[in-house]
Amino acid sequence: MSRNMQGFGMMISKLKKNPKKIVFTEGTDPRILEAASRLLASNFLTPILIGNKEAVENAAEEYGYNIRGANIIDPEAFDQIEEMVALLCELRKSKNLQPERAREVLKQGNYFGTMLVKMGLADSLLGGATYTTADTIRPALQLIKTKPGHNIVSSCFILVRPSATGENEVLAMADCAINIKPTEDELAEIAIGASDCGQIFGIDPKVAFLSYSTLGSGAGEDVDKMRNAAQKAKALRPDLPISGEMQFDAAVSPRVARTKCPDDAVAGHANVFVFPDINAGNIGYKIAQRMGNFDAYGPILLGLNSPINDLSRGCNADEVYSMAIITAALVDVDADED
Ligand SMILES: CC(C)(COP(=O)(O)OP(=O)(O)OC[C@H]1O[C@@H](n2cnc3c(N)ncnc32)[C@H](O)[C@@H]1OP(=O)(O)O)[C@@H](O)C(=O)NCCC(=O)NCCS
Repeated sequence: MSRNMQGFGMMISKLKKNPKKIVFTEGTDPRILEAASRLLASNFLTPILIGNKEAVENAAEEYGYNIRGANIIDPEAFDQIEEMVALLCELRKSKNLQPERAREVLKQGNYFGTMLVKMGLADSLLGGATYTTADTIRPALQLIKTKPGHNIVSSCFILVRPSATGENEVLAMADCAINIKPTEDELAEIAIGASDCGQIFGIDPKVAFLSYSTLGSGAGEDVDKMRNAAQKAKALRPDLPISGEMQFDAAVSPRVARTKCPDDAVAGHANVFVFPDINAGNIGYKIAQRMGNFDAYGPILLGLNSPINDLSRGCNADEVYSMAIITAALVDVDADED
């Protein structure tokens, strides 16, 4: 991984005690093969590569990665395909999915891999090196579904930058990848999910609901929406410091906060940022990444029954490796918390 992140060491130790299996839906991609070869050389995470066995092995040889011992599963030669087709039809019976169509759907690595997780043959999945975000996430939404206590699946990015003091600066931003125009209730759920996820990475959450207005300095429908969403989040989680609506400068700069909202406990020190919609969120995290020198990990999907994550199509092998560890470490997170 490109920078040492608080939380990674703990995740690896956890996986070493209880190794997990992770599906990579794009088994012939060189970045996946490089990450898989690194994981195979360790003993905490078993990669399952989806693809034609010969094609995967040839690709590994061509790119020079040792994947000896890898579990390669070819959707076209899978010995439990009948069981998988039946389960898929059952899961999608409300959409009247028929076996013939299910067989076609399962030829796609994203659906096939997601079904491996659903059947308990793998613990988690990482895809999206070549699929779009929507194509990676859709099978998870349709088949893995939202876990109890959650109304939506959302996502957050964890941003990491070494600070002058030598300590990493770690922030969470949400929802930059899934929910296009979240409602007030959804924004509240997104904030709570991002805070809980941030804690896994060592963040002590201080949550700002971002807007172009700070605590009433501006007016408008979008301002009301963020203020109401912040109130809803506070009502759901009175234990968390949550504030908003708030401008980004008031959220992060103690000097600006002293001027704009001196009595606010979050202002000036926010580290979990809730954006009004996916436009703002996606643009915002990329500004931090490209101009603020933060490493961005994510999108980390929140609220699914099993961890499934999406890679950026521009990812490198290092990012695949890091995201694989993050994804697998999210298995049983709720159980750990109980
Ligand atoms: C996530 C996304 C793909 C879902 O879109 P979609 O497939 O058109 O969604 P649909 O409304 O057809 O829903 C498909 C299924 O997912 C479920 N679903 C959709 N959004 C959901 C959410 N946020 N949480 C939980 N379930 C969701 C629907 O209920 C539906 O389930 P069903 O088929 O069992 O009835 C869409 O919201 C999207 O494109 N988001 C932006 C992705 C993106 O481009 N990100 C930027 C790059 S990082």
